[in-house]
Amino acid sequence: MCGIVGYIGNKEALPIIIGGLQKLEYRGYDSAGVAVHTASGIKVKRALGKLEELRKAVSQNGQEFRGTLGIGHTRWATHGRPSENNAHPHSAGRVSLIHNGIIENYGVLREELKKKGCVFESDTDTEIAAHLLNFYLEKESLKPFEALKKLCSRIIGSYAFLAIDGQNPDRILVAKNSTPIIIGISDEEKFVASDIPAVLEHTRDVLILEDGDVAEVYKNRIYIENKDEEVNREVERITWDPVTAQKGGYKHFMLKEIFEQPGVIAETFRGRLNLEDEKITLPEMQLTSEQVKDIKRIIILGCGTAWHAALVTKFYIEKYAQIPCEVDYSSEYRYRDLVLDKSTMLLAISQSGETADTLAALEKAGANVRTAAICNCVGSSLARKAKNIVFTHAGPEISVASTKAFTTQLIAGYLMALFLGQKNGTINNGVVAEKIRDLITLPSAIDEALKVNSLIEDVSRDFRSASDFLYIGRGLCYPIALEGALKLKEISYIHAEGYPAGEMKHGPIALIDENMPVVVLLQKSTALYPKTLSNLREVESRGARLIAITDQDETGDLHDHTQALIKLPHISEDLSPVIFCIPLQLLSYHIAVLNGTDVDLPRNLAKSVTVE
Ligand code: M6R
Repeated sequence: MCGIVGYIGNKEALPIIIGGLQKLEYRGYDSAGVAVHTASGIKVKRALGKLEELRKAVSQNGQEFRGTLGIGHTRWATHGRPSENNAHPHSAGRVSLIHNGIIENYGVLREELKKKGCVFESDTDTEIAAHLLNFYLEKESLKPFEALKKLCSRIIGSYAFLAIDGQNPDRILVAKNSTPIIIGISDEEKFVASDIPAVLEHTRDVLILEDGDVAEVYKNRIYIENKDEEVNREVERITWDPVTAQKGGYKHFMLKEIFEQPGVIAETFRGRLNLEDEKITLPEMQLTSEQVKDIKRIIILGCGTAWHAALVTKFYIEKYAQIPCEVDYSSEYRYRDLVLDKSTMLLAISQSGETADTLAALEKAGANVRTAAICNCVGSSLARKAKNIVFTHAGPEISVASTKAFTTQLIAGYLMALFLGQKNGTINNGVVAEKIRDLITLPSAIDEALKVNSLIEDVSRDFRSASDFLYIGRGLCYPIALEGALKLKEISYIHAEGYPAGEMKHGPIALIDENMPVVVLLQKSTALYPKTLSNLREVESRGARLIAITDQDETGDLHDHTQALIKLPHISEDLSPVIFCIPLQLLSYHIAVLNGTDVDLPRNLAKSVTVE
């Protein structure tokens, strides 16, 4: 999710690059850098922190960065903490290179390059790409375009690469796989970027590169190949205003982030599923088999949405690793009187990694207790504190109401559970292989689930005026009911409660009358589907207005008994919580839009709660 900008033309590159990066700041950043081809070769400057730090650093040496070709980057860390050394561009010999994405086989490539005498200055996966490109140019004397193609053929993973070669200062080398790249076109100048807002100030004509494209971008022409064949990409005219462009054409960041879920979930498991060895690979989980076998209890902590992810993660860990788990709110746990010993592990879940209560709760662990985290922000305080970690790789989440951060937390929790199960010897390779196959199908199932969007918009019109909602589900769908209710409260300001469906008759059913909408999550499951159906009948007979959501193919006469029936694609029972999230996110979104609230910045809420 880093921001990338490149420029080639007749103007000074530096202000154009910095201006473009500024437009991409919403993508998140922890450091930034530029490389400009100047009269005395490529000059690079990198700075930790916001783009402002880079701007200050280059303005001190303004004259040094004069040139009409350059590339720049704002980083959202994936491999290696935020630091000046880990910031892009990375340089090797005559090459400077920036990258957005994840290189899965970087460990193998790094070892190979070390043997060839390359010296690495950073902990990033990107630096190997700079070295490889330089190696092919220098040692194999390949032409720049051939060297770039050879680089791409060696990479497993996702990438958007921009590189400049000190010996060929007439072009930017560009390659794309699973990570966006656009090229802005104007006479005698070209702009390459990870997203449209970066170029809109200069041009509205853009080419959108496709996966597998490799390109040489000159100031007055572009050459693109895909699978060794020359290709043309059509020029599109962008009519969006700059703010809409930042939202990718969506009306709100929240909607954009809902629709990003198929892609970001693939990022969460990218490089971590090893079908050949039937293993889950989590390099940032340091625990050995012996250490996992010593863990007798896990306390999972989080706040808000992250607490809901904790409830699902408990289910996964208990099922696959057979380690009993407790779930607690960080804000409650931090004040408990509890002395932990080495047989307990604390697992904190947090998108930001900066939630004050979660950090304080983790502090309580003391030096001897094992700690772990599921977190989205690589350089965050939580990521620094926890000894074992699974990053969610959801990219920056701008909307206050969490969507993609939640579903990627579920997948990170699932991966962690399978990893612990492997180490604990409670699941065999065959089970892992089956789960890997399920995970691989998940992004397309989410794509399918997103097709309910317009139906949900219609349903929202019928329900927007309700003053209260109940959400009910069982098993894995119970935390999802809680999450659905929280989403509605947060952005539409409508009172909503989530309940385990089997608990209704112990109290909440007294609330049911003909004004009460009840959202029933009916997961296809031999044990739970018939039970949840009975719970639906109980509230139906008391007059509730029903929205039924199910992945069951045979829904019988459910249609006649509900105001709305939302059908979802069926996927494995373990992963279905992710699919059930989609209509709930969309329901809260559309009701909020119809009721005119500030969807991305709801009242009284902050994205990250860094105070108690
Ligand atoms: O950054 P964190 O995951 O630690 O944040 C925890 C909660 O503040 C957060 O999930 C909050 O509940 C969201 N606004 C939910 O949409």
